[in-house]
Amino acid sequence: MSPQYKTALITGASSGIGKEMALWWAKRGTKVYAAARRTALLDELAKQGEGNIEPIALDVAKTAETVARIQELDSRLGGLELVIANAGVGHPTPADTSSWEQVEAVLRVNVSGAAATLTAVLPRMVERKKGHVVGVSSVAGYVGLGAFSAYSGSKAFFSVFLQSLRVDLVGTGVKVTTIEPGFVKSEMTARIEGKAPMPFIADTHVAADKYCRAIARGARSIAYPRVHALSSKFISIVPAPIYEPLARKASEPQRQMLIAENAQKA
Ligand SMILES: NC(=O)c1ccc[n+]([C@@H]2O[C@H](COP(=O)([O-])OP(=O)(O)OC[C@H]3O[C@@H](n4cnc5c(N)ncnc54)[C@H](OP(=O)(O)O)[C@@H]3O)[C@@H](O)[C@H]2O)c1
Repeated sequence: MSPQYKTALITGASSGIGKEMALWWAKRGTKVYAAARRTALLDELAKQGEGNIEPIALDVAKTAETVARIQELDSRLGGLELVIANAGVGHPTPADTSSWEQVEAVLRVNVSGAAATLTAVLPRMVERKKGHVVGVSSVAGYVGLGAFSAYSGSKAFFSVFLQSLRVDLVGTGVKVTTIEPGFVKSEMTARIEGKAPMPFIADTHVAADKYCRAIARGARSIAYPRVHALSSKFISIVPAPIYEPLARKASEPQRQMLIAENAQKA
């Protein structure tokens, strides 16, 4: 059986959700170009990929290089069929202690890097009248979270960016899928494990399977775990005078964590 997509590029494939998605497509015969900065981890991943995973050293925060690298790959392959902008960072940025450098570090990867990854191929896919772009956003974009202004804001940007792409691409033959994870086990969540509650946290393998199946059926979007997505949607309509003090209290552990990390670095 021939694979649904012959080629796929997945950013942030060295760990967590991106790594599991790379294995999912590779096992189904897709040639996966697995991109990230930690190439030693990608080399390990390639060994599990049944000969279908090729590591790509890529720092998406360097947007000009990212666009050039992806376009070079697209030209070499005669057209990438699936591009998944998954790379992301989740550092907390509490308003009272964060520097611009800390805020910018999140925006460079989650906003500029993510948008550059997809923009690099979109006009080419439209010209070819086929292709599928996917963005890994977050339920954190539904409502401004305490201590995570840059992260929450970056994911609100990405979900809306992807929705606008879908509008522009109506009738072009190019598909857009938005993935909005709730808590999923990964390096990102391991950093806050035990320091903050992570309700409804999903197994990485199970979550990646749900996301990849949604991509395979051409879904517009998927939010999983669904119970987290629904809770976040509900919280987003709670009146601000009630929401804000409660969210401030709930985010205190992350705030303290960053203050401790900053003190260690100093
Ligand atoms: N886990 C969750 O609960 C959760 C919830 C909502 C949304 N998400 C989103 O899911 C996506 C994947 O995160 P994850 O949970 O799987 O976390 P993770 O295990 O920390 O994986 C993040 C991936 O992004 C890559 N990355 C980070 N900065 C990069 C850069 N400058 N250039 C290229 N790659 C970079 C990392 O690779 P290198 O360090 O090797 O470059 C790594 O492969 C992210 O967009 C995240 O925001 C996760």
